[in-house]
Amino acid sequence: MNLNLWFIALWVTLVKAWVVNEGTTCTLYPESLVHRGQAVDDAPSIQQAFDTCGTNGTVIFTKNLFHVNTVLNTTNLLNCDVHLRGELRFSTNIPYWRTHAISVVLQDQVTAWLFGGTNVNFYGEGGFYNGQGQEWYNANRNESNQPGRPMSITFYNSTNLFVDSLKVIQPQFWATFVWDSKNVTFTNLFVNATSDSKWGTMNTDGFDSWKSDSILVENATIIMGDDCIAAKGNTTNFHVKNVYCEGGTGITIGSIGQYPETPDYNLNTTFENVHIKNAMDGAYVKTWQGTRIYTPSNGDWGGGGTGLVKNVTFRNFTMENVGLPIQLSQCVYSANTDKGCNTSKLQVEDVKWQDIRGTSRFNIAASMYCSDERPCPNITFENVNITSVNASLGLPYYNTDIHHEIFQCTNVLGQKNSGIPCNQAAPSNFSQWIYGNVDSSGLATLT
Ligand SMILES: *[C@@H]1O[C@H](CO)[C@@H](O)[C@H](O)[C@H]1NC(C)=O
Ligand SMILES: *[C@@H]1O[C@H](CO)[C@@H](O)[C@H](O)[C@H]1NC(C)=O
Ligand SMILES: *[C@@H]1O[C@H](CO)[C@@H](O)[C@H](O)[C@H]1NC(C)=O
Ligand SMILES: *[C@@H]1O[C@H](CO)[C@@H](O)[C@H](O)[C@H]1NC(C)=O
Ligand SMILES: *[C@@H]1O[C@H](CO)[C@@H](O)[C@H](O)[C@H]1NC(C)=O
Ligand SMILES: *[C@@H]1O[C@H](CO)[C@@H](O)[C@H](O)[C@H]1NC(C)=O
Ligand SMILES: *[C@@H]1O[C@H](CO)[C@@H](O)[C@H](O)[C@H]1NC(C)=O
Ligand SMILES: *[C@@H]1O[C@H](CO)[C@@H](O)[C@H](O)[C@H]1NC(C)=O
Ligand SMILES: *[C@@H]1O[C@H](CO)[C@@H](O)[C@H](O)[C@H]1NC(C)=O
Ligand SMILES: *[C@@H]1O[C@H](CO)[C@@H](O)[C@H](O)[C@H]1NC(C)=O
Ligand SMILES: *[C@@H]1O[C@H](CO)[C@@H](O)[C@H](O)[C@H]1NC(C)=O
Ligand SMILES: *[C@@H]1O[C@H](CO)[C@@H](O)[C@H](O)[C@H]1NC(C)=O
Repeated sequence: MNLNLWFIALWVTLVKAWVVNEGTTCTLYPESLVHRGQAVDDAPSIQQAFDTCGTNGTVIFTKNLFHVNTVLNTTNLLNCDVHLRGELRFSTNIPYWRTHAISVVLQDQVTAWLFGGTNVNFYGEGGFYNGQGQEWYNANRNESNQPGRPMSITFYNSTNLFVDSLKVIQPQFWATFVWDSKNVTFTNLFVNATSDSKWGTMNTDGFDSWKSDSILVENATIIMGDDCIAAKGNTTNFHVKNVYCEGGTGITIGSIGQYPETPDYNLNTTFENVHIKNAMDGAYVKTWQGTRIYTPSNGDWGGGGTGLVKNVTFRNFTMENVGLPIQLSQCVYSANTDKGCNTSKLQVEDVKWQDIRGTSRFNIAASMYCSDERPCPNITFENVNITSVNASLGLPYYNTDIHHEIFQCTNVLGQKNSGIPCNQAAPSNFSQWIYGNVDSSGLATLT
């Protein structure tokens, strides 16, 4: 450490916080610098910096290691610029986070950092968020939505929010979540959730949004074990472009239709210029079934929700070894249970897949299943060309009597003009995962 820093340290210690405040700028230094490198909690200083400079001001995290051991609630900012130049390392005190993380309402989930305001710019200038998720992945043991497992950072109640170069590594749960916000732009987002143990990362979504309007996500690299990007209920005018997704479960609208009391309207969505590699799913729409089922893995009870998915375009996707490249499912949480795949009340219409190319992991390119309750009009394919990995390598298809690419359709209205080369009915025991080639029963390896 240089001498200047020691003087600042001394002075800041005297004012009892590691925030240097000059005019409208608050500059943050970590406590560890004056505590012999100990992981002293920097959350109180961070909170203080936002209290002091969160309105008409600037908050700078210097290029140092910050320890965040307690929750952060930095909301209601106004005209504020944030510069993240250091590492924010979130503690792995699982019992603490489980009991203190802040509710985000949706599915009874929580967040470690609630952030938001009006006219806020967040610049990740070489800094990054380290969720130290490995501890969470190990503790979670491949369960879904473990109670109290916090999203890394939630952008809440924000208007005119600009987030550039946010980097999240080893997120605890969903990396980023945008909730109750309007006019939000994310550019150059980077997320990497990779487990080095036998347990998967599970639910480490890259970017999710809920009850938010006018969102642009441009340039994102997302490596993880769940949804790369997911538009939950009431995400409208959502534009996503230039994305690379590796692992996980692709780009989706959903799941929606979980709660009967709050219908989900997902209107005007464009996903374009996307490369998806080694993922379970590609470009798809997933809804709950029309009946209520106890599904603890997704909060609590789920299903029975109404609403509308309309005007969606998936354009210019390259798939590379993707389990189910294209899908529409209306019972993603009740497949195989015979509990009402046919009952979904959520209308899906006017969805287009355009310029989609590449390879499927098995002999199935698409499975489009709409419920008897709500058949889907105006579902179209244009220039969709998917070949199975084996076929593309000249290898045989295993354990199947079908040696060509399958396109399943059920309750897709106007099939003749849809551009979908439907050649099999989509089965009603339909989930979002597939583990092998499909045979002429259409059911064999769908789970
Ligand atoms: C913040 O700036 C706006 C104008 O940009 C002004 O109206 C408001 O009074 C300022 N608030 C504070 C607390 O300085
Ligand atoms: C977060 O902070 C805001 C003030 O900005 C406060 O109104 C709100 O109650 C806090 N929320 C939680 C969960 O602490
Ligand atoms: C949401 O932000 C607005 C300012 O745009 C503020 O007036 C309101 O109190 C905030 N709501 C909550 C719940 O924090
Ligand atoms: C949306 O937010 C951006 C800042 O990210 C701002 O420049 C733009 O003016 C806002 N648009 C509207 C319509 O307010
Ligand atoms: C993602 O993280 C894993 C584990 O930390 C690392 O091995 C890998 O290189 C990272 N990938 C990228 C693109 O940073
Ligand atoms: C997206 O990435 C490209 C290539 O790196 C870059 O030229 C462009 O400026 C980026 N767009 C934004 C909005 O940052
Ligand atoms: C979605 O918006 C509609 C009104 O447009 C509202 O009735 C519904 O409750 C909202 N759904 C959610 C999940 O907030
Ligand atoms: C969808 O986009 C159209 C055309 O831009 C616009 O008129 C309409 O208001 C948008 N719908 C919603 C729900 O914002
Ligand atoms: C559909 O949504 C796109 C944005 O994704 C918008 O540009 C277009 O105007 C919308 N079309 C209609 C008919 O609303
Ligand atoms: C299609 O997407 C790829 C990225 O996956 C991009 O490089 C290419 O320029 C896009 N093509 C068009 C026509 O936009
Ligand atoms: C069908 O979808 C296309 C594009 O997605 C849209 O332009 C058209 O208006 C839709 N037609 C109907 C009848 O909804
Ligand atoms: C589909 O893509 C394969 C290569 O993946 C190519 O050989 C074939 O010609 C393409 N078919 C069409 C109709 O473009």
